[in-house]
Amino acid sequence: MIQILTSPEELRLACDRYRSRNRRVGLVPTMGALHQGHLSLVDTVRKAGATRVVLTIFVNPTQFGPKEDFERYPKTLVEDLSLCREKEVDLVFAPETAALYPPGYQTHVEATEITREFEGRFRPVHFRGVTTIVAKLFNLTGPCVAAFGRKDYQQWRVIETMTRDLNLPIEILGSPTVRESDGLAMSSRNRYLNPEERRRARAIYQGLLSARNAFTAGERKPLTLEQIVRSSIESSFDSIDYVSLADPLSLVPCRSETVERAVILVAAHLGATRLIDNTVLGEDDLLLS
Ligand code: PAJ
Repeated sequence: MIQILTSPEELRLACDRYRSRNRRVGLVPTMGALHQGHLSLVDTVRKAGATRVVLTIFVNPTQFGPKEDFERYPKTLVEDLSLCREKEVDLVFAPETAALYPPGYQTHVEATEITREFEGRFRPVHFRGVTTIVAKLFNLTGPCVAAFGRKDYQQWRVIETMTRDLNLPIEILGSPTVRESDGLAMSSRNRYLNPEERRRARAIYQGLLSARNAFTAGERKPLTLEQIVRSSIESSFDSIDYVSLADPLSLVPCRSETVERAVILVAAHLGATRLIDNTVLGEDDLLLS
């Protein structure tokens, strides 16, 4: 039977009970409007040994900038709960905003270097909000493992960094990006796209694929690889925030003449919708572990 909780105290008690019975808690934090990408994270924590899965649904206000889509972020709680039931999630935590940010709330967690570029540059308060809410969810649930999607590549690395820096005893898993049949990365924000925008959206993945193919064929110049992605996106999207190669661990932008391993990070706008995606070049066992 799935348990659905809204109070942080009840969540803490439920997770205490799991641990006292030697269950391994796996945490999957989400903002809801669930799709197969989110549900794949449930499989990822189970594969890593979680015997109880806690999935949280909370549209976290502190990670949205003043001009961003907090107010219109899709909310589909009834459908989300039925997907969680089908997936045999043990506990869903879906609190009100005030339960996690009561009046007088004033404490934040921030990773500095790794949030400087890319999403951090275009969404200045974003990662501070993400690390703050994820730290709170970690503290409430005390998980052995937690899964994050590589779709939000920088977010995954930021959370790894926070976990390491704060000595949190939690294994952080980076789970592969789940895509639609035409390659578009699944995202709750894809719901904003009209049919015509939806058709154009595939250009991101097409661009990333072309760059991967060029890399496989021997192309090693960061600027050339970036340009391949950029030209694909330019023809279909309204504007580009960034297309850039970076070190896959530190996320420092590539400044060398050639690269052997890099992540290509992309953010671009289609009408009122902002989409992000990425791919890793020269992926090896170290990165996949
Ligand atoms: P949200 O966008 O709902 O995503 C929740 C988790 O699902 C994140 O780890 C995200 O990377 C992962 N995810 C989303 N789309 C995916 C896809 N197509 N394939 C694989 N994984 C995917 O990311 C957030 O919420 C928030 O920032 C959160 C971490 C919950 C903090 O508020």
